Amino acid sequence: CEEIQRLIKEFPDRLTMASTGGPVTGNDESDKAGWQSNTLKLENAGAMGIEYSLSCPQGGDGTHGDIVAQNAELTAKIIDWVMEISNPEIPKLFKLTSAVTAIVPIIKAVKSVFNKYPEKKAGITLANTFPAMGFREKEDALWDEGVIIGLSGKGILPITFLSLARACNLGVIVSGNGGAMSYLDAANFLALGTSTVQFCSIVEKYGYGIIDELHSGLSYLLEAKKLRSVQELIGIAQPNPITDFLQLPPKSKSSTLNQNLCLQCGNCTRCPYQAITLNEDKYPEIDKDKCIGCSLCTKLCCTGALYMSKDS
Ligand SMILES: Cc1cc2nc3c(=O)[nH]c(=O)nc-3n(C[C@H](O)[C@H](O)[C@H](O)COP(=O)(O)O)c2cc1C
Ligand code: SF4
Ligand code: SF4
Repeated sequence: CEEIQRLIKEFPDRLTMASTGGPVTGNDESDKAGWQSNTLKLENAGAMGIEYSLSCPQGGDGTHGDIVAQNAELTAKIIDWVMEISNPEIPKLFKLTSAVTAIVPIIKAVKSVFNKYPEKKAGITLANTFPAMGFREKEDALWDEGVIIGLSGKGILPITFLSLARACNLGVIVSGNGGAMSYLDAANFLALGTSTVQFCSIVEKYGYGIIDELHSGLSYLLEAKKLRSVQELIGIAQPNPITDFLQLPPKSKSSTLNQNLCLQCGNCTRCPYQAITLNEDKYPEIDKDKCIGCSLCTKLCCTGALYMSKDS
């Protein structure tokens, strides 16, 4: 709370939000008191918004997952405790996880709580770090020690994209978080329908100065796309991003050679569908019937001699 007060004093022109959590011991009475008391303390300290991490591994006995937000019922219960006493003027964000089999039922459970409090401002943050494992040295041990980590940054970006694509259509306010390492990543979050974008790893890696670059990059992009405001960008990739493999359209493009650029190196013969062979002169020949249009060969070719062209 002191930190919040200090930040507001030092940066009076900025929006200062707080991040918190609460106990998850299974004793509803004391747990509820903890979440509510944290909320009231931060509101009284002047926080202009509060985010609650339901996606840190702070609770649960593993039955429904180690992360609170893997359990729809528990997530809804905690959000209800907070919303019950929430100051309607101070927005609340509930930070969920992508590490679930299906995000939609979790968000529907959250939405049903929000619907109980129509006058109170609330949304979700999607998502957080993704649980993963790394190895670290362990003294006097035969092997390095495997240890759980929260993966952040570039590696989790596609996971966040898919979660956002599924979540942003469900009628809740979404703040995008997890993997944004450039202005284009942030723009894709917004295009999927998030109202805001959060950055963590990129700032840790490059420092706060990167925020100016993100601003100018986004401005450049808006201009290039002839969009007049961020508002016009929000949701532009919706309503129908392809989120189901079965919805993928049949192949429409196949690999094509620009012989003038070809160095006859043979790299492209690593096509996983064996659609490329070299002819007598060592130039690639592409069997269009075998090519499934994956475009891998265009990445394997270092001269740009291969490109994808529409099937006739
Ligand atoms: C060192 C570190 C500490 C973090 N601590 C918290 C935390 O206390 N509460 C929280 O909600 N998220 C925490 N996070 C997660 C970040 O807020 C963010 O959700 C995550 O790193 C994914 O975003 P990014 O890919 O932009 O880094 C932490 C992340 C890092 C790297
Ligand atoms: S697009 Fe894919 S399948 Fe087609 S030739 Fe290239 S690597 Fe092979
Ligand atoms: S990878 Fe590119 S340069 Fe090499 S043989 Fe294939 S098309 Fe030619």
